[in-house]
Amino acid sequence: MIQVFEDRIFHLQGKNVSYVFFADGHGFLRHLYFGSKLCDLPVHLAQTAFLGAAVNFDGAQLPNDNLNAMLLENGCAQLGDYRRPSVLVRRANGSSLTDFRYEGYRLLDEHKLDGMPCVRGGKTAEIRLRAAGGLTLLLYYTVFDDSDVVVRSASLLNDGERVEIEKLSSFCLDLYDDSRDTLQLCGNWASECRVVRNSSHKGVLQISSAGRGATSHTTNAFLALPEHNATETAGSVVAVNLVYSGSFGLTCENTSLGICRIQGGIDEENFRWALNGGERFDAPQAVLVYSDGGLGGMSRALHRFYLRHLVNPTFAYAPRPVVVNNWEGTYFNFDSAALKEMIAVSKQIGADTFVLDDGWFENRNDDTNGLGDWNVDKAKLPCGIEEIIDCCHKAGLKFGLWFEPEMVNEGTTLFALHPEWALHNPDGGRVRARNQLVLDFCNGEVVEYVFRKMEEIIKKGVDYVKWDMNRYLADLYSASLPADRQGEVTHRYVLGVYSLAQKLVSTFPHLLIEGCSGGGGRFDAGMLYYFPQIWTSDNTDAYCRTFIQYGTSMCYPMSAMSAHYSVCPNHQTGRITSSEARFNVASVCCFGYELDVRKLTEEQREEIKEQIANYRRWQKLVTEGDLYRLANPADGLWAVCQVLPDKSCARVVGMHGLILENARPWLLKVQGLQDDASYVVQETGTEITGKTLRCAGILLPQVFRDFQTFALHLVKKQ
Ligand code: GLA
Repeated sequence: MIQVFEDRIFHLQGKNVSYVFFADGHGFLRHLYFGSKLCDLPVHLAQTAFLGAAVNFDGAQLPNDNLNAMLLENGCAQLGDYRRPSVLVRRANGSSLTDFRYEGYRLLDEHKLDGMPCVRGGKTAEIRLRAAGGLTLLLYYTVFDDSDVVVRSASLLNDGERVEIEKLSSFCLDLYDDSRDTLQLCGNWASECRVVRNSSHKGVLQISSAGRGATSHTTNAFLALPEHNATETAGSVVAVNLVYSGSFGLTCENTSLGICRIQGGIDEENFRWALNGGERFDAPQAVLVYSDGGLGGMSRALHRFYLRHLVNPTFAYAPRPVVVNNWEGTYFNFDSAALKEMIAVSKQIGADTFVLDDGWFENRNDDTNGLGDWNVDKAKLPCGIEEIIDCCHKAGLKFGLWFEPEMVNEGTTLFALHPEWALHNPDGGRVRARNQLVLDFCNGEVVEYVFRKMEEIIKKGVDYVKWDMNRYLADLYSASLPADRQGEVTHRYVLGVYSLAQKLVSTFPHLLIEGCSGGGGRFDAGMLYYFPQIWTSDNTDAYCRTFIQYGTSMCYPMSAMSAHYSVCPNHQTGRITSSEARFNVASVCCFGYELDVRKLTEEQREEIKEQIANYRRWQKLVTEGDLYRLANPADGLWAVCQVLPDKSCARVVGMHGLILENARPWLLKVQGLQDDASYVVQETGTEITGKTLRCAGILLPQVFRDFQTFALHLVKKQ
């Protein structure tokens, strides 16, 4: 609900949150409150601030020094607000003064961003600010009766002469509180989303994926500000997650006056956008979340929100297929006979979908060639992909196929015909990574070419696509853009990616697309809009996965994470873990197998058959359940509880880490159950109340071996 008073005081109410701001007598948009839901307007705050500004207002005089001490919804450059600005626009005369003042508002039933992912539903306030020279800044605030978030974005309209946008933050949030911790998700390839929490700082903390052109393995587009004492279960947390998949930046600036400003969106470093008269530019959405139930509350608020309002409704709550993926099983080395055998075994063990990974197209026997042409390799598959698709469908399985749409190898026909279609700097050599170049997705012709190629193959009966992106951008130069638009490359590139994703989703509404970028290199809310699930990491080692999944779950639902059981010794770490541990860790996500199923013994096949049946029995908990993180793997134990929203059943899964000493047994307190209900532990038949499980907990048997694992299934007694 959105309440507006006196045409300038705005009270946005979500399910349990309120957000309040107003336009003062000078026309500055000033923040008042973001926190637990208020039933009345904090008028005492509004009046003090509103009247104070009005009294000083003489129409010409700016309240220069005061701005620096104010909480603003839009950071202004060169007006005496010395914090980092939210908008920077360079005019033809060289000036970059951006003095935006309140002009009015509209309430909208729907707010869509053209060509970019955006959340569905909610009520939106569009706040209009004007600056000299015909510039209008539109700030959007969307709230939802069923969610604890405020979704923000910003757009610039130009009615004047051409300007250059140097920065347009999606949001700016000022708080009178610089004592909060910061929590980021940092990592690398194969170790994505490690939680990094620091206590408060002075100055600017900046996280960004720089010129990579993707949100990256190194830092997720997420920043949380838990109050210093906030824990997993208690305390207040303000956090932001961008609905964006390109180079992003987020800053948290704590000033000498004790004010904290967070803002961000498209990374300003590699960004310049020319805006002609009559044009509009949209910054991506940012999801602001407030929780007074600690980090767990924050995560559940985001998870529920994404499933209700971001993920494609066709898939959001649908049971996802149990897949068998051949990548770690065969890498590039397979032929049609091998695939047919793998499909037969996949059927035998009870999988739903067989996914043919990299290597099915011409000249792809290693990672040095083949990307871009997308012609089936007749040496490996003499009867074409149709034969494999047919074999799957006849066996009652769905068929999935790997693509890396954004890339090209130099040995391909595509590259020979169109070397200019790969991003490259005219003054330098081409920067290769994994032996490949990045296609220029700023160029609509390139996107159209890739779409046609994919469409042709998907039409043959592909049910599932794994869309990979195995390198970042480096040459930020597009042959399709004029010199004065080269600062637009990284953002235009992402718009090209979104347009291809949208074309696929619209043309094939039942095609399930799994996102991937060398694992979790582009695991973000932007991708989640098109791809209901994303390959979380190339690291399939169960122990490493507990850290990766723990961090990724800070903002993304468990059904967004693909996780596969693979062989031991693990291909990434060489570690040996039990089959049970590998199953348990992967089974809290979208589940599958990443191995050569032909090599499984009869006994292993039986075991896997049982695992899949077991996964299916409890799968609803992954797609529909709420997640409670019970233990942090960094403390030596990973444990989660997934509970259906009606609290009728739950699954508690955990794995011990490295045994470093003869430690005491773990007491695991189970969150998320109904206090006054009795639950039957399926493994033991024991009956126990939710309250006892929460307060007294479960004493886990002491372990003397690394990576011991457990899973308990709880069903509420009627
Ligand atoms: C990336 C993906 C893997 C696999 C390979 C294929 O690394 O993350 O899962 O698809 O590419 O080349």
